[in-house]
Amino acid sequence: MKDLTLDVSKAFGFVSENDYKALQDKALESNAALYDKTLPGNDFLGWVDVKNIISEEELSEIEKKAAELREKIEVLVVIGIGGSYLGAKAVIEALSNSFAQMTCQKGKPLVLFAGQNIGEDYISELMEVIKDKSYALCVISKSGTTTEPAIAFRLLKAEIEKKYGKKEAADRIVAITDKSRGALRTLANSEGYKTFVIGDTVGGRFSVLTPVGLFPIAVAGFDIRQLLQGAFRVEELTQKGKSFDENIAAHYAVVRNLLYKKYSTEILVNFHPKLHYFSEWWKQLYGESEGKDGKGIFPASVDFTSDLHSMGQYIQEGVRLMYETVLSIAEPDKKVEIPSDSQNLDQLNFLAGKRVDFVNKQAELGTQLAHLDGGVPQIRIEIPKLNEYYLGELIYFFEKACGISGYILGVNPFNQPGVEAYKKNMFALLDKPGYEEASKAIRQRLA
Ligand code: PA5
Repeated sequence: MKDLTLDVSKAFGFVSENDYKALQDKALESNAALYDKTLPGNDFLGWVDVKNIISEEELSEIEKKAAELREKIEVLVVIGIGGSYLGAKAVIEALSNSFAQMTCQKGKPLVLFAGQNIGEDYISELMEVIKDKSYALCVISKSGTTTEPAIAFRLLKAEIEKKYGKKEAADRIVAITDKSRGALRTLANSEGYKTFVIGDTVGGRFSVLTPVGLFPIAVAGFDIRQLLQGAFRVEELTQKGKSFDENIAAHYAVVRNLLYKKYSTEILVNFHPKLHYFSEWWKQLYGESEGKDGKGIFPASVDFTSDLHSMGQYIQEGVRLMYETVLSIAEPDKKVEIPSDSQNLDQLNFLAGKRVDFVNKQAELGTQLAHLDGGVPQIRIEIPKLNEYYLGELIYFFEKACGISGYILGVNPFNQPGVEAYKKNMFALLDKPGYEEASKAIRQRLA
């Protein structure tokens, strides 16, 4: 079976091959440190040995509970934010029919998300839309105390209990949280919810291959074993002891660190709208892992060709601050041919009989050449098909490369101290008990 491929050749000319060679040992040492746990963040490396990230028993439990819910619900609402949301959202969007909202039914539930924002209209409209559906909730929080999902869960828990009564509601709620700590664990134990555990050694943004991602993905009807198989494969290819030439994650980590010397921004580019949320997941992975100590590549993303009609001008001719990493799919799932038209008013008959994907691929190639001419270095990653297996390959590839890249950059890729700053201010403004001094100080600042 083919694997994902990485092509960094279009970055040369912007970075030197000598510099590339010079960083190879550092990349391999960084990869080894992920296995040997010798560098900062070493207590959050439970995702590296992905074959042991989840036990067979837990996997079967996930599949069993997911199958049971699929029988009886039309909608699953997953409540979580950041790493407790983006992985599942990315995989489900990538694999679902683009118009899945139109087809939800028992046996084929739609997965919706809540608690990833504090938009009042969003939560109100969600409650309205699910009220007459058969639904279940999956609340995910590693800490068990994050404000956004806690508010959403408080609201949705009241609704589901009103609709089904407390006992039936408890059967329809799954909690994914720490094994013993946090408010969500306490609540889940006291209410008797089915629970799955987020292990201590896997941080939120590295948790999609744990129950955090696997359970919602299984409820959406996708093969979580294939997802894991894809990840296992890239782990094998990038194991400690592999040479630099063999290790695709090390290549990506090296080239992006060299590009960072001249370019502050990496744009993840896709030509398939189903990958929109995969880019959102990737942005969190790299943004939270590398953006610290005054350093880090700014991760951005675009969906082409749509965004060629909005961001294309800037990328082609604006400030030269970015390089692109293009995520390409060799063969889409469906086939659509462009028909001939007797009038040919749009003058597109030269495309008659050609597949839509053929046009998309020429757009991709044309864009690559244009952006290279415009001074935008290119990295290209290709997967043969968009399926569970190759998404698993991509997920592990980006996770591994992120760990290596962060260590080359000289940061701890596994913490996120900066996320706390807004929370402190928000709690002070909300007069949360315990924040009295901070509340006074912030009010003075605003006076
Ligand atoms: O990557 C991370 O650690 C964060 O994005 C968290 O996943 C996010 O803040 C949600 O935290 P929790 O799962 O504790 O509610």
